[in-house]
Amino acid sequence: MQVGIDDLAIYVPKLYIDYKDFAQARGINPQKLEYGIGIKKMALVDTNQDSACMAANACLKLMQKNDLQPQNIGRMYVATESALDESKAMNSFVIGMLEEVYGEGSFEHAGGIECKFACVSGSYALYDNTNWIRAEENNNKAAVVIVSDIAKYDIGSAGEYTQGAGAVAMLITENPRLLAFDSKIASTIIKNEYDFYRPFGKETPLVNGNYSNLLYLIQVKKAFDSYKEKAIRTGLIRLRNGESITDHIDLFSVHLPYRKMGEKALAYLLRHEWRHLPRWQHIIKEIGMIEPVPKDPRGTIESILADKEFMESDEKFRRAFMQTSSYNEVFEQKMASSLEASSLIGNLYTASMYMGLRSLLEFEYKKGVELESKRIGFGSYGSGSSAMVFSGVIQPEYRGLVKNMNLEEEIGMRTKLSIEEYEEVHKNERNLNDCHLRGHKEFVLVKIGGSTADKAGFREYNYLN
Ligand code: CAA
Repeated sequence: MQVGIDDLAIYVPKLYIDYKDFAQARGINPQKLEYGIGIKKMALVDTNQDSACMAANACLKLMQKNDLQPQNIGRMYVATESALDESKAMNSFVIGMLEEVYGEGSFEHAGGIECKFACVSGSYALYDNTNWIRAEENNNKAAVVIVSDIAKYDIGSAGEYTQGAGAVAMLITENPRLLAFDSKIASTIIKNEYDFYRPFGKETPLVNGNYSNLLYLIQVKKAFDSYKEKAIRTGLIRLRNGESITDHIDLFSVHLPYRKMGEKALAYLLRHEWRHLPRWQHIIKEIGMIEPVPKDPRGTIESILADKEFMESDEKFRRAFMQTSSYNEVFEQKMASSLEASSLIGNLYTASMYMGLRSLLEFEYKKGVELESKRIGFGSYGSGSSAMVFSGVIQPEYRGLVKNMNLEEEIGMRTKLSIEEYEEVHKNERNLNDCHLRGHKEFVLVKIGGSTADKAGFREYNYLN
């Protein structure tokens, strides 16, 4: 049985800050943001928006564009790290909003939970719902997986230029029109880590930036090793002499905290996969230096980061590798299109990789590339930490869906905030109803908390016509 993503819909808030304004305000060279990080615009939520209404807006779009009724949906999972309640799941808020449109009780027959594991939980939600359908537990109904997040960092921190907000809703069905997941190869890795975390009550995360970057690379590589073993063992991919498994993956979509991280993840993976192959000799010749090895190759991430001599020469090698024709050919053909949305929106945590998938489909199609039967390899990462690597194949009916994708049109007219306006929103200094934009044909938050103590934390949303 083929199961996978039948269609997807996105929601991106219309407020943003521009990288040039941001760079000027923080005294950073704008080229660092544009090229070193890869950001041009960071999407921001208005005072009357939260992660639940972004999720509901993405889901409503998905339902409307596919003429879906609540009866067609058996499960709704929301994956997020921008939770609104320690107990009440985000999908309950989303269902409450959708029932304003579809009628009270219209989702009563369905089920679902909120999932948490930093940015990777959406991938676990997809995997679990795919298997719910494969196991034929679904009573002919579809599952909806929504990934929705607000990436918010402290003002003045290095994470501040990797902020963003948005949601992606995905329809999971049998015989999907867009992408069928390969079965029996999804691979995970998990370890207790403190690279990035947000203790209870804190609105912004605590981040060990460089540690988190290296951990991301290592964890995805480990999950990829396991994927490779399964793909070969199950016969999904057959390697000939001198081939790398990356030769059999046509397109890549990876977690994107920022655009440059995707480029680095591909470089790390290719180095790992290619260094034992004959092609490596040519690459080393082109680079003109041998690949550095840490003093203690079996050391910890801390010991590798502390090995200054290795880190410096490895950075030099990595940059040179990313200039080679071999890297650039793979990057342009297999990854570049997935990074376009990241530069225009910023980090979306759980939704980043799926906005990347959306971007990949749209911009590859616009390049005129034939996508049918192409295999996409996914590298999902969540701090804390876990990685999941899996793959899927683009289905013949993809054209009908992808030809209408237009990121800029779907985001709509955007409003740039000045740095002062941004900081005011960031510090929660504006009243909930004192929003910059009123919203149109979407759900917005109108009230938090009732008049009595037992209604604390009640959230009221309205659909604006
Ligand atoms: N022109 C062009 N490039 C420039 C430049 C200039 N004038 N000045 C600097 N740069 C480049 C640097 O050379 C560097 O490029 P390379 O990576 O190729 O070396 C790049 O800009 C970034 O600069 P720094 O190395 O100085 O990094 P930073 O101090 O700005 O921090 C960061 C970057 C660690 C990602 C920080 O933004 C951060 O902490 N972000 C939040 C954590 C994060 O996103 N971690 C990612 C992995 S964890 C994860 O993925 C989960 C998640 O979603 C959070």
